[in-house]
Amino acid sequence: MATNEEILENESHYAAAQRVQYYDIAIESGHGAIVKDANGKEYIDLLASASSTNTGHTHPHVVQAITDQAHKLIQYTPAYFANVPAAQLAERLCSLAPISGPVKLSWGNSGSEANDAIIKFARAYTGRQYLVSYTGAYHGSSYGSMSLSACSLNMARKMGPLLSDVIKVPYPDAWAKLPGESEDEFVERMFAAFKLPFETYLPAEETALILIEPIQGDGGITKAPQKYMEKVYQFAHEHGILFAVDEVNQGMGRTGKWWSIQNFPRIEPDLMSVGKSVASGLPLSAVIGRAEIMDSLGSPANVYTTAGNPLVTAASLATLDVFEDEKLVERSARLGQVAEKFFVQAKEKHSCIGQVRMYGLNGGIDIVDPETGKPDREATTKVIYRMFELGVLIISLKENVLRFQPPLVITEKQLEQAFTIMDQAFSELEAGKLALPVNAAQIGW
Ligand SMILES: Cc1ncc(COP(=O)(O)O)c(C=O)c1O
Repeated sequence: MATNEEILENESHYAAAQRVQYYDIAIESGHGAIVKDANGKEYIDLLASASSTNTGHTHPHVVQAITDQAHKLIQYTPAYFANVPAAQLAERLCSLAPISGPVKLSWGNSGSEANDAIIKFARAYTGRQYLVSYTGAYHGSSYGSMSLSACSLNMARKMGPLLSDVIKVPYPDAWAKLPGESEDEFVERMFAAFKLPFETYLPAEETALILIEPIQGDGGITKAPQKYMEKVYQFAHEHGILFAVDEVNQGMGRTGKWWSIQNFPRIEPDLMSVGKSVASGLPLSAVIGRAEIMDSLGSPANVYTTAGNPLVTAASLATLDVFEDEKLVERSARLGQVAEKFFVQAKEKHSCIGQVRMYGLNGGIDIVDPETGKPDREATTKVIYRMFELGVLIISLKENVLRFQPPLVITEKQLEQAFTIMDQAFSELEAGKLALPVNAAQIGW
């Protein structure tokens, strides 16, 4: 069998622009929260395949459903004929959506396509062209979703022109708050920045959409304040602008609720995008929205040959079963508290830990220079690389945020083992024992 090194060497001749570099491994297998690389080394997975395997790797119920469906029918394009699992799933997902009144959905293969679909439906329903999204956002890699994103220069470089009429407003993230600023002052300042385009060059009556990650994922796992969300929501309603949320990363139980927007009382989206874990990582996504909005386009306005095929929708039905049977949403909330306790204690012990932000089994932990309090990219790379050596898979976001997103089925014992290793890595960092890996310059976003 090929080793990590052989697989990567071979792949390097043929694959392009598809990997944020972290560790030189090829994943060979995975069960629950444990994955094994091609050299046979095992890791506790604190990444859950970028939050796309919240039910854990190869969950037996999901594997069984995929196997059974594969024997019956793998694909007949939903573009022309209905299939049983897709029809069942449409009903089930629509009833799970945090949207009152009649709800409909439209399939995609990826989160990116679901966000593209949000643009289509919002423009069609409102008859308006302008789109508002946020700095720090990641909405995907297709032209539409990439145009709404703002978290990596490599997602804009050399590829323009991107979609026109997209306006980015500043996300009220964890780092934007000024020293000494109260929460209310912060909200007022960020809302003023939100309104500025509308007061100067962006006609609200020509704006179709405000798209937000209620908790930004790739932006550093950081949550917008409730009062800010209420103000933007109210503004949207006053001006007939659709309010849409991207739940691709932070949905599916990740934040201790089904959907991250449910962490914000009194706010109900018009449209939402889901993907990643919805079919335990198989390629399936959906835009879900108020039926009257979803009825504003006719077929084939949002058709893909493979989107919503029988195999992935059967996997998704099984995924929802697992969520119900194993109470994964509640589990995320409960284990999130266990994890928060660990990180808060670790912060007291290790001066390299800055802010700790936990929302369910889902957190962003900032690594800072103890002297200056500033983000410390090198220290972050040293910590994650040391954890990797010790058998824990974790990566970083931005330059200095530890991305903590284990499968929701991780056992408490596995969590404890991961925390023991993390604690060791922090101690070794502080004792000056950790060196940068040779490829440090390539590691990270
Ligand atoms: C919030 C969010 N939206 C959309 C996407 C894009 O999803 P996909 O990679 O499936 O196209 C991602 C992927 O990381 C994401 O985190």
